[in-house]
Amino acid sequence: MDAVTFDPATRTWLLRTANSSYALRLDDAGLLRHVHWGRPLTPAQAAAVPLREGPASSFDGAVREEYPSEGGARFGVPALQVRYADRGRGLQWRHTGHRIDGGALALSFHDDHHPLELELHYRVHPDSDVVERWASLRHTAEAGTAQDTPVEVLRLDSACWTLPVLDDYRLSHVTGGWSGEFRLHRTPLPAAETTLTSRRGITSHQANPWLMVDGGDAGEEHGEVWGAALAWSGSWRITASRSHTGDVAVTGGAGHEGPAVVLRAGGTWETPVFAGLYTDGGFGAASRAWHRYTAGHVLPRPDELRPVVYNSWEAVQFDVTEEKQRELAARAAALGVELFTVDDGWFGARRSDAAGLGDWTPAPDRFPDGLGPLVAEVRRLGMRFGLWVEPEMVNPDSDLYRAHPDWVLHTAHRDRTELRNQLVLNFARPDVAEWALGWLDALVAEHRIDYLKWDMNRAFTEAGWPGAADPDRLWHDHVHGVHRVMDRLRAAHPGLRIEACAGGGGRVDLGVLARTDQVWTSDNTDAHDRLSIQHGYSQLYPARTMTAWVTDSPNPLTGRRLPLAFRFRVAMAGALGIGGDLLHWSPEELAEAARLVEEYKEIRPVVQQGELHRLRDAVQYTLGDRVVVVAWRLPSVYDGAAPAPLRPAGLDPQRRYRDEATGEVHHGAVLLAHGLPLRLAGDWASAVVRLTAVD
Ligand code: DGJ
Repeated sequence: MDAVTFDPATRTWLLRTANSSYALRLDDAGLLRHVHWGRPLTPAQAAAVPLREGPASSFDGAVREEYPSEGGARFGVPALQVRYADRGRGLQWRHTGHRIDGGALALSFHDDHHPLELELHYRVHPDSDVVERWASLRHTAEAGTAQDTPVEVLRLDSACWTLPVLDDYRLSHVTGGWSGEFRLHRTPLPAAETTLTSRRGITSHQANPWLMVDGGDAGEEHGEVWGAALAWSGSWRITASRSHTGDVAVTGGAGHEGPAVVLRAGGTWETPVFAGLYTDGGFGAASRAWHRYTAGHVLPRPDELRPVVYNSWEAVQFDVTEEKQRELAARAAALGVELFTVDDGWFGARRSDAAGLGDWTPAPDRFPDGLGPLVAEVRRLGMRFGLWVEPEMVNPDSDLYRAHPDWVLHTAHRDRTELRNQLVLNFARPDVAEWALGWLDALVAEHRIDYLKWDMNRAFTEAGWPGAADPDRLWHDHVHGVHRVMDRLRAAHPGLRIEACAGGGGRVDLGVLARTDQVWTSDNTDAHDRLSIQHGYSQLYPARTMTAWVTDSPNPLTGRRLPLAFRFRVAMAGALGIGGDLLHWSPEELAEAARLVEEYKEIRPVVQQGELHRLRDAVQYTLGDRVVVVAWRLPSVYDGAAPAPLRPAGLDPQRRYRDEATGEVHHGAVLLAHGLPLRLAGDWASAVVRLTAVD
């Protein structure tokens, strides 16, 4: 089966994945129309799909266009908007050709008058139902000709996704804030324009650039779900429009309203990928498909097991000294930790968040002989070495800022707003990006650093670049600059791994995951709160990327006291780390922690590389013949009856499964119908069930 086909008679293109199809057509008027996104179709079937008629009134306009640009009778949210040098607007596209190359399709259009070429790109992969889409806009004028005038690009979305007409629509997405990221919301999609966005220069804690839409009837394991996710780590906007006629379109891309970029003769502006996925196995199947896609086509090292990390932040905050780090490292190593990370506070004059960012040399009073001795000690203890950095930031109280006050985002005659006492370095500037690459490269090389936790702790304000020809570009170019520094650093140091962080989960997206290995999910390490954060995170992103630390009780942020085993079992659902003050853990706690680290290492391949099923108060991971269920019991009201059985998902009813803890063998059919042999007694109880298929 060809992944992409074209039917010249009806001018219909069809993209096919194993379990879905996507079709578009050039209609008689030359408009590119959306035809189909959903269950699999053959080329003949796709060609036979009738185009949906638009409303007849003069008050409505075109519907179900594949990529609605501003201009003509179009009244929806434009995917593309430009302004010409004469202040005129509007686009009028003429189809000029297409290219098919394996799973890739590119359609070209040229404006009837202006020197603009639009390419719409599509790509499918043999092992995924995800359709990748992006767009590029080229200024085709020859330099020095009459058409060599700048075009302002006000909006260039990556794609517009059209849904089939359903009886009803429901929107799923995540919202939140610092220490409360990834809260899943499922709400009816109103007959309105619903915009999810970040205007902060980063992906944001408040919203994450993906959504899912269903007919209101999908469940965790059944029903059709359409979803789209943007691979972008800066500001972004996704708008889901539902009309009174029941048409739903979702247009999205990088950038928020306001900033515009200038395209000059010969220039091309290319968007990030906005990937779409149709599944008919409910939200669970959608998540599993997104996880597989992320592992297969996004992450740099998907098959590597993520190490058990120790991070010193919650234990010592800014009180980072070589002596204390050594003590923590010794305790961490004894627990079975594999990578020891020194967090904020190791450099310059960094004694609090008031000073030092930008001066990336070890603080001499804290590390008299530099980082070398600590790194050597960590290695001697059998662990790899990780270090916290925040390359995009500077404190005004720093040598860097005193030397280069012009390196930060700023606007003439406006105050420079400080957040957490820091300003944002302009990574759109090549000299700033080169400076960052220079010190990072030297630092990583000097100590053979294995792991960087790359943090980013504030949103953009006064995002200007006085004197730049096209200052708004920095909203995009800063992101490209950060991505490029990460890419070049990784290329120069193939052993280096990166953890993305922005005050917890403020920069999690498919763009950053293409050059990092895992992310710091949230600064909220309260295991109870983590359950909902991890639930929302898991909707799109896989467990192997989700760093989860076990920290102290009472939790420093929320004050909640939780048993050590519960804290561990919640963190075990992702890439386990430890972030507590081990110097204050009792010998009993340390012994229990060591046992739990051991337990995690045993289930780690299944958790990190298996398929996720979200169960009630539990998550299940399945890898080949192995099944792991991590279950939690939250405080509940006793109603006189035993709790309902915890039924696993996706087992083979014909096979039998051995419980690795008890050695008992159970029929898959019985487990599926009657639940796991599990009794969780008492509040905050937790358990790990390990099953292996035996015949
Ligand atoms: C925010 C991060 O999320 C924390 O884990 C810690 O690294 C601090 N920054 C350090 O400033």
